[in-house]
Parts: sequence; structure tokens; C-alpha cells
Amino acid sequence: MAVAGTTWSPSSWRAHPAGQQPDWPSQERVEAVRGRLAAMPPLVFAGEARALRDALADVAAGRAFLLQAGDCVESFDVFSAIAIREKLKIMLQMAAVLTFGATLPVVKIGRIAGQFVKPRTSPVERIGDEEIPSFRGHMVNGEAPTLEARRPDADRMLQGYHQAAATLNLVRAFTKGGFADLTQVHMWNQEFVASSPEGRRYEALASEIERALRFMQACGIDLRDEPQLHQVDYWTSHEGLLLEYEEALTRRDSLTGDWYDCSAHMLWIGERTRQPDGAHVHFFAGVHNPVGVKLGPNASAEDVLELCEQLNPHRIPGRLTLITRMGADRVFELLPPILRAVREAEHPVVWVCDPMHANVVTSASGRKTRHFDTIMAEIEGFFAAHRQERTWPGGVHLEFTGDDVTECIGGSEALGEEQLDARYMTLCDPRLNARQSLDVAFRVAELMRSV
Ligand code: PEP
Ligand code: CO
Repeated sequence: MAVAGTTWSPSSWRAHPAGQQPDWPSQERVEAVRGRLAAMPPLVFAGEARALRDALADVAAGRAFLLQAGDCVESFDVFSAIAIREKLKIMLQMAAVLTFGATLPVVKIGRIAGQFVKPRTSPVERIGDEEIPSFRGHMVNGEAPTLEARRPDADRMLQGYHQAAATLNLVRAFTKGGFADLTQVHMWNQEFVASSPEGRRYEALASEIERALRFMQACGIDLRDEPQLHQVDYWTSHEGLLLEYEEALTRRDSLTGDWYDCSAHMLWIGERTRQPDGAHVHFFAGVHNPVGVKLGPNASAEDVLELCEQLNPHRIPGRLTLITRMGADRVFELLPPILRAVREAEHPVVWVCDPMHANVVTSASGRKTRHFDTIMAEIEGFFAAHRQERTWPGGVHLEFTGDDVTECIGGSEALGEEQLDARYMTLCDPRLNARQSLDVAFRVAELMRSV
């Protein structure tokens, strides 16, 4: 396959500058691990990636909405059936709120089952007198601030693969095996959420959904025959940052002969690695999964058009998602020229708002945090920019957890800076807790009704 005049293969990214790759102590070890991973079964199938692309084509056309959310980075240590179930519950709750509130299908994509690697602003961190490598996520090194823990270890890619496989297995069981059945809509509300204002609002909505189901039944519709009521499609995604891992999981589809990165249904390119001549753009130009690109405040309209041409030259709807993260105070100034350029070039993209990554502040006690109101302000600015340019505000991309953490401040519980230490659990960026996430869903549903 030809990409930008060169022959593409899963390893041809090596001829391009690859940012944010670890400094592996042993290249032989990396090659041995890559060989083992390449021999293992794929985690997803090409046909699934195509089905997601079709679902995203509906989002691009303004007929559906995308909810993409999960941890900033998954942990090898917080790995249990309960943790996976709680993440799924909050996703199902938010999707129910959005679907019911905006009467539109919601495409659900987790940052899950492979979100193990982080880009870093600096490759090293100073601890006392010592300079040690930065933490890059559990698929690369450990988070403890010692030289030993921070040494990149290629075997972690194998552990990441196995954890992704086990996570995906349970997710498939939950989403297809009854847990996501719409008749369970009350069950997804957790105890610590149920007593809050958004929890009560959710209970009322769940009761309305139940009434609607009973109404359909009373009309003679046999609900047992409607699979959409009993199962959900929940897709996986992660930042395709660690190219050794992505290359190893890239396989040729036997049906079409096309290459797919079978580590997840969707992969995205981060803000720090989206250089048009870089290895990440080259690699993802050649695989046929739906792909995303993060766009920060420095992205110009020309940069974005170039990415569209490289990643989706045939203008296939659903293939390309642009995830904008401009900052609450700049989104309304920076986004419209980009929306206009892409619209005029007739690129059928999915537009998604990441209101998290350009709105990080440091608390007085030195914690990284985000304010609920700033997150909402970026989402509102995103909707306003799309309204002005007559483009479809296709979705939101969030960092959240189903747990009762104290990482983002504000929200209806008015979480204050002084409470951040109580349950600050994230390995990387601060996440919305379950109550704050539900609150965001209700507010986004209102914004969608106003489009
Ligand atoms: C992320 O999504 O966790 C991330 C690092 O985002 P960005 O590339 O937009 O900074
Ligand atoms: Co993050």
C-alpha cells in the first residue's frame, strides 16, 4: 500500500522520527517481546473496527453522538472485576442520560483495555539531586520515584497485552450478557451517587425509561425480540503511542487484505506526536481502523487539513475523528477557523471536545486538578463554535472514573481544593468522579437539545 509516495508496512514507521518513545535499555529484549506479541491472537477483529467506523460515520453526519471516556491511564495495580464494572456502569448511565435527553444514538468508546502509555512534557524528572526517567505508564515503567522503578522494561508490554485481553473479555461479557440490559437501568446508579442531586435526577430518568419500555410492551411490542434493548456496543480505544506494541498487533485482514491495528477498535494520535512527517501519523495512515487526532491550541487550519489529507485522503466518513482540546478561555476564538477550513475542504470528520487536557491547574498543595466549571465552559464554547459554523458537535472525550475520587474540584458537591488529598488516586491526570460525570452528561444533553 502506498502512503505519501512510500511503501507502507507495519514497520515502515521506523524511517520517520518517532516522538515520545521510551529509552529501552535493551533493544534485543524489545525485539523478543515484539516477536511474542506478533504471534499472539489479536484483541479485536477487523470487522469490528469497520462496524465502529460505520457507527462513527453516523456521528460525522450529525445522526449520532460520541461519548469517549475512561482513565487518563490504566493501572496494572487497579485491575479487578469490580473496577471494570464500575467504569462500565458510569458509562452506561451517561449514555442513558444522553440518549434519552437528546433522543439520539450514542456511540460508546472506552479509554480502556490498552490505555497504558503516556506522553510526557519532559523525558526526565528531578527527584532531590537525582534525575530519573519520567513515568510513562505501566506498559513502560513503574510510577515510584526511583531509578529502578522508572527503568523501561519491555516485558511490561506483554503484561499490558494480557491485562487488555482480560479486561476486554469481561467488558464483552458485561455488555452482551445481561448487565447492560436496559431493564437494569436503575442498577447502574451507585450508592454514593444515588443520594446526590444528579443521582436523584438519574433515578427519575431511569423511571421514565422504564415507563417507556412498559408502554411499548403494552402496545404489543415484544421487547424480548429487540436485541438493542438487551446489549450494547462498547468499543475500546487508547492513544497509539508505543509503536513497538502497535506494530506487533497489526494484522492483515483476511477478508479485505487491509491492515488493521488489532490492539483496539479505535486508536488516537496525541497532541505531542501528530507531526505530519512523524512516525505516528505515518503508522496510522496505513491501518484501516477509525483513528483520532488530538488538536491543541497551536494547531493551525493548515496543520489540520494536512492531517486530514494524510489520514483520510479518500474522505471515508467515520475514519477520522478530530479531538479538540483548546482550553476553556480560547476555544471560541481558536476553533471556528479550523471548523470552517475542514468543512470547506469537505472532509467528513467527527468533531469531539476534550475539555480536560488544556484545563489543568495546580492546586496550592501542588496537586494537578481541573475545575468542573472550566470543563463545562470548554464544552459550551465547543457547542457555540459549532453552532456558529453550522458543523455538528459530535461528542465529548472525558477522563473519568466510576469511583468516588477527589481529583477534579467543583461540581454540585462543591469539592474544594482542600479536599483533593482525601481520595486522590489517579496515576496521571485528574478524573471526574461518578457524580461529576453524571452532572456533565445532564448538561451536555441540554446543550444537545439546543443545537
Ligand atoms: C490524553 O488524552 O491523556 C493526553 C495525553 O492527551 P493530549 O495528547 O491531548 O495531551
Ligand atoms: Co490525560
